[in-house]
Amino acid sequence: MPPLESLTEEPPVEPNRRSFLAGLLAAGSATVGALLAVPLVRFTLHPVLARTTEKSWSDVGKIDEFQNLAFPTKKLVTIEQRDGWRRTLAEKPVYVSKNEQGQLIVLSAVCTHLGCTVPWVEKENKFICPCHLGKFAADGKLLGGPPPRNMDRLETKIEDGVLKTQYQFFRQLTRNEEELA
Ligand code: FES
Repeated sequence: MPPLESLTEEPPVEPNRRSFLAGLLAAGSATVGALLAVPLVRFTLHPVLARTTEKSWSDVGKIDEFQNLAFPTKKLVTIEQRDGWRRTLAEKPVYVSKNEQGQLIVLSAVCTHLGCTVPWVEKENKFICPCHLGKFAADGKLLGGPPPRNMDRLETKIEDGVLKTQYQFFRQLTRNEEELA
């Protein structure tokens, strides 16, 4: 008759099987943990990853206002900016002007050289940047000075008789337009 001990003992689990189950459990836990962490990480990094300025349409003015435009007209557009978790409204200057074909265009007033605000100088009939005397034609074309490119044109559309623009920031000192977030 076998000893009592050996009758009550469970059959020994093979070490390989045990470590496989433990590994499976660990892998499952790690996967669930990672899945749960994704929203948390996205939430935490949101201010870093998100654009500081969401691209959206801002009203520039009623289209009738610009029908007989003789020279660039300054307007302020309202945009929403994000600073970390904070959302703020800011006003940005733009110019409504016409291209060579006589169509309405909207120009960013930010100089493509070092970012000063460029005013339209009526008696000179051109934009003249006060910082380093960069000069631009009424349609934003570069006429002279240190700026590396024309004034930046913004996207436009007309909706319900209102001229709208999509304000955005561009990198300075580059020959080609490079959109900034
Ligand atoms: S910032 Fe406009 S010319 Fe330098």
